[in-house]
Amino acid sequence: MTAGQRAPTPRDELATWRRLQQLADAPERPGSAAAHSLTACGLTLDLSGQRLAPPILDALLALARECDLPGQLRRLFEGAPVNASEHRAALHTRLRALDADGLPQDPEVAAHFRGLENLAERWRQRRLTGFAGQPLQHLVNIGIGGSDLGPRLVCAALAPERDSRFVANMDPEDFHTQCDGLDPGRTLFIVCSKSFGTAETLYNLEQARQWLLAAGCPESRLPHHLLAVTANAERARAAGFDDEHILTFQDWVGGRYSLWSSIGASIALTLGMDGFRALLRGAQAMDQHVLQTPPEHNLAALLGLTDVWNFSFRHCHSLAVLPYAQRLALLPMHLQQLMMESTGKRADQQGRLLGYHTGAVVWGAAGTTGQHSFHQLLHQGSQRVSCDFILPLAPGAPHPARPLSELDRLGHRQLVAHCLAQMQALRQGEEKAALRRRLEAEGRAGDELEALLPQLEVPGRRLFNLLTLPRLDAWHLGALLALYEHRVYCASVLWGINAFDQWGVELGKRISSELLPWLEPGHPERAEQAPEELRTVIAAWHRANAPQGDPTAS
Ligand code: F6P
Repeated sequence: MTAGQRAPTPRDELATWRRLQQLADAPERPGSAAAHSLTACGLTLDLSGQRLAPPILDALLALARECDLPGQLRRLFEGAPVNASEHRAALHTRLRALDADGLPQDPEVAAHFRGLENLAERWRQRRLTGFAGQPLQHLVNIGIGGSDLGPRLVCAALAPERDSRFVANMDPEDFHTQCDGLDPGRTLFIVCSKSFGTAETLYNLEQARQWLLAAGCPESRLPHHLLAVTANAERARAAGFDDEHILTFQDWVGGRYSLWSSIGASIALTLGMDGFRALLRGAQAMDQHVLQTPPEHNLAALLGLTDVWNFSFRHCHSLAVLPYAQRLALLPMHLQQLMMESTGKRADQQGRLLGYHTGAVVWGAAGTTGQHSFHQLLHQGSQRVSCDFILPLAPGAPHPARPLSELDRLGHRQLVAHCLAQMQALRQGEEKAALRRRLEAEGRAGDELEALLPQLEVPGRRLFNLLTLPRLDAWHLGALLALYEHRVYCASVLWGINAFDQWGVELGKRISSELLPWLEPGHPERAEQAPEELRTVIAAWHRANAPQGDPTAS
């Protein structure tokens, strides 16, 4: 906002917001939900499980108009500084705006893309060699957050048989678990960090160096095994990389929106460029749908509006992501970062504290495994959760060395039946009268029956979306992931918040570097100098790590 411009009205003072509040305060009329399903880019969204009665949907669409959602989407695509707190655009859509030949239309993006293409081609032809001259064949991605979760998900979803590895955690166990058993002479580490300043990634880079050196790699040959991917080439150079071993991308790519950039190197190498392109093309198709379609027919706008209705008005602050596909088991983790880092905000873009809730807690697991743990709370718990069921309609792409058997197809049919059954149970519950009859038929009566009834009753009328994909391939996965990105942006516009910064995360990083001196081995006296509230645990740490035989160790 420039000087002289009037600050937009706080969202909760808008007429459409007040109208939504009135609707939320009114008792819900049973049976008022309309069947509601739409298809775009092969994905079908069924919103009927949200029970959006026509007046609610009308009021939500009026809010979208009042917030100029279509205009705000255009601003995103045109490169307006939508990330105002960091003075940046968020142009991830430009990464997937390919021309007819499959090259990015933006010349700078195209240059990065060609670098990636060249690398992927040399990898495919096994022309990259290690310190002993053998072709590299094991791939290990080092990175965290957006430099890990998206590529990790896509590789697991589309080519689990390639066994690409991902190291993210500061805990050394992660590095060793991922790398033990690999042949160092044949291993390529792709070190991904937008900032090239992230503690975990720099630590794991050092682990990789030590691991290679310990295996006999001469210092001079380390560059054969290490590739940096970053938007900050200067820092990568300072960390020992030469330009030949650095892939770059633009600063306007947000970390959690970066799998489409050079950060997707592990995807490009794992799937090949054709697979990576198909992923981008699917996302590109979704971008066009979202940009060109009015809110009432726009999948991302409708999902964003539903999130606003649920999280700000309906006392629902939890979203369970339930992919019915083992290959999408990592989707909840990817969406956790995408949605919670983007919408976990308490002030609007004008710096006003919000009088309403924004982002929900996002979690979940693949069906059917989750059914045997947390679904109980979904069915009978006392708090509201909205669920996203994600269902590929055809079984997963066959393993190259193992065609789908009849038994595999049977397994997939049963998986689909379970997914649909969960939705029916959430929707209908079990009618009390039928439950009573069943218990009476079992011989239950009197006080015992009355005490049992509420405990067994499954109330139904829970909230959920269903998203189906014809099959899980690169194109549809690209469309699905782009849809979630746009859903988040749409909700952020309706809430008036910045979806592209994450200031809260930075505080913990600062504090952790301040605390490290109190954890100096061999200096238990440091505990006394630490902040008072941490002294006990720091003293315990010194005892637990004291050299063997130290009488103070317990
Ligand atoms: O922890 C927050 C965060 O900044 C994420 O937004 C980001 O994806 C992650 O750290 C990793 O950052 P980088 O790619 O700069 O290493």
